[in-house]
Amino acid sequence: MAVAVTLACVCAALPPAWAAGPQLPLAADGVHDPANPGLKLLQEPRDALSNLPKDEVGNRVRWVKALEQGAITPRTNILPDTQIRVLNLDILMPRTAEAPMVLFPHKQHTEWLDCSNCHEKLFKYKAGTTKGLNMFAILQGEFCGRCHGAVAFPLTECKRCHSVPRTPKK
Ligand code: HEC
Ligand code: HEC
Ligand code: HEC
Repeated sequence: MAVAVTLACVCAALPPAWAAGPQLPLAADGVHDPANPGLKLLQEPRDALSNLPKDEVGNRVRWVKALEQGAITPRTNILPDTQIRVLNLDILMPRTAEAPMVLFPHKQHTEWLDCSNCHEKLFKYKAGTTKGLNMFAILQGEFCGRCHGAVAFPLTECKRCHSVPRTPKK
């Protein structure tokens, strides 16, 4: 069976130290064993990530930009027969009360993720039909919050999701 390389498993596994973002030394990141002598062989995140486009938040890298600029070329599949499906489809999500509406871009997600990471456990294959989707649930780490705040930019960056202004009432 073909296996797609995904971030979803990483999202679930990463501890809060990484989610908090700053590029901590490996010995202090809560992931690596500081007593392990093999640690010296690994490159520190600060060095590894220093040439990538910078972000002010999260893990301090603009990953979408890094990909678009060709600064990184992540391996998309381990098995040659794995199908890579990039979908160019924006979804406008209007149930945002007074906040600007949310624009969900499939393109930037499917460059890293397989459809099965999100469909249909997290989101339905029909816009506006996913039950229980709201900001509270997202802040609890559900839906978009499975990844945003873990491996993708944090939930404090409201405007990166809420990017479509409502036309002001006259
Ligand atoms: C990772 C994307 C993302 C980020 C970041 C984000 N939101 Fe949301 N937000 C959503 C989605 C998706 C919805 C549901 C939209 C829908 O169902 O049509 C939503 C819904 C909302 C709603 C509607 C009421 C509710 O409870 O659902 C409000 C208000 C809101 N967000 C405010 C914020 C604020 C304030 C921030 C920043 C602190 C923020 N959001 C950050 C994705 C995001
Ligand atoms: C990062 C998560 C994510 C990934 C990966 C993803 N989707 Fe989606 N998809 C969504 C969200 C969110 C919605 C909107 C759901 C809602 O509004 O209830 C959606 C909606 C859809 C819709 C409904 C469109 C409409 O107008 O009703 C289709 C079709 C779809 N996705 C196909 C795909 C396919 C095919 C792939 C893989 C190539 C894919 N999606 C990958 C999150 C994702
Ligand atoms: C399975 C993981 C996953 C889920 C679920 C997910 N995202 Fe993302 N998202 C990512 C990754 C990875 C990136 C790229 C890294 C980054 O920008 O931090 C990204 C980037 C984005 C971007 C930036 C695109 C750009 O051009 O820079 C937006 C906007 C976004 N997500 C919105 C959403 C919204 C809204 C939802 C929920 C409806 C959602 N995401 C659900 C993983 C996810």
